[in-house]
Amino acid sequence: MHNHTEYFQQALEKRREEGTLRSVRLDSQGVDFYSNDYLGLARNKELQNILLQKVNENPQLLSGSTGSRLISGNSSIVALNEEFITKQHQFPTALLFPSGYNANLALFSTLPNRHDTIIVDEQIHRSVHDGCRLSNARKLKFLHNNVEDLEDILRRQSGHCYIAVESLYSMEGDFAPISEIAELAKKYNADLIVDEAHAFGVFGYGLIDQYQLQENVLATVVTYGKALGSYGAAILCNEMVKSYLINFASPFIYTTSAQDFQWESIKAGYEFLKAHQELSEKLHENIQLFRSQNLNSPSSEKSPVQAIVVTNNQRLKQMQQTLHGEGFLTYAIYSPTVKEGSERLRICLHSFNTEKEIVRLTEIIREFI
Ligand SMILES: Cc1ncc(COP(=O)(O)O)c(C=O)c1O
Repeated sequence: MHNHTEYFQQALEKRREEGTLRSVRLDSQGVDFYSNDYLGLARNKELQNILLQKVNENPQLLSGSTGSRLISGNSSIVALNEEFITKQHQFPTALLFPSGYNANLALFSTLPNRHDTIIVDEQIHRSVHDGCRLSNARKLKFLHNNVEDLEDILRRQSGHCYIAVESLYSMEGDFAPISEIAELAKKYNADLIVDEAHAFGVFGYGLIDQYQLQENVLATVVTYGKALGSYGAAILCNEMVKSYLINFASPFIYTTSAQDFQWESIKAGYEFLKAHQELSEKLHENIQLFRSQNLNSPSSEKSPVQAIVVTNNQRLKQMQQTLHGEGFLTYAIYSPTVKEGSERLRICLHSFNTEKEIVRLTEIIREFI
């Protein structure tokens, strides 16, 4: 009989030996070059005061929702905020979720059926893969951002296809050729789903909004745990897709809805974002400054995520530890999160990083590459 304990131990030991063992730590003392708080909203005192005021006026916001939104957990606040979000994004409607992970799980486990094929970019987020696993559809991968490869795959399919991409990839820090992919989706009658987790807030309301592609996608996911400094997510789609998800998506149906405070903090985040566009301007200045230091990076020159590939695990670890020693918090990503041979240091730039910090960070990195 298989001994599970032994198996768990061996798997953990293997990671320890490779230097890739994960653990949760409390080392948040230092200069933040690793969080998704791109605009500093998660630490913004003015926004905190706005939220405190809301809670003071209505302490009920902090209490539990008491059930699934299909039973006792719905509220006028969540419904009104969905309406508000719908208007911001110029989509027919929106459905809120407690996190982006849940939203992707709901979309991909529910919409595609067993006759369908889901074609995903090979670097798509894990939540999409997990959603696909819960569906009965077949999943195929296309080479990262490679439109020719995607078309090649589409051409060979006889059934209905879904295409899943991110507008800005969080491991590579590069953009999907979204207009070309939208064209292909149209040409092959496929349904396009776009995850805007990292673009939302950094590039206005995301790239679908910037390129006005609302009518070319079946759904997009915007998440609120990154540039908005809160948590939660919305699926933007049409009324039929929303109703289908409400009826058939297990991650929507079989879970307790979040507190109203979560939905209110999302709305406050949108309003704050709109009133403080200088934050994203500052972020883009910082991205430019980082890029002007001429480190070799596969990331786009406009991306708030900048990857520095260091294929030797030990060297990568050393680099990160040196940075840590100098008070810089960064994140090293090993396989299997990224492909073997493309292990990297992932740097997230923020509106609040200073010129001195960015220049010093790049000086240390240069010693290792
Ligand atoms: C591209 C992408 N999609 C979805 C998610 C999940 O979003 P959340 O953190 O809100 O669950 C993430 C977060 O890491 C992400 O990077």
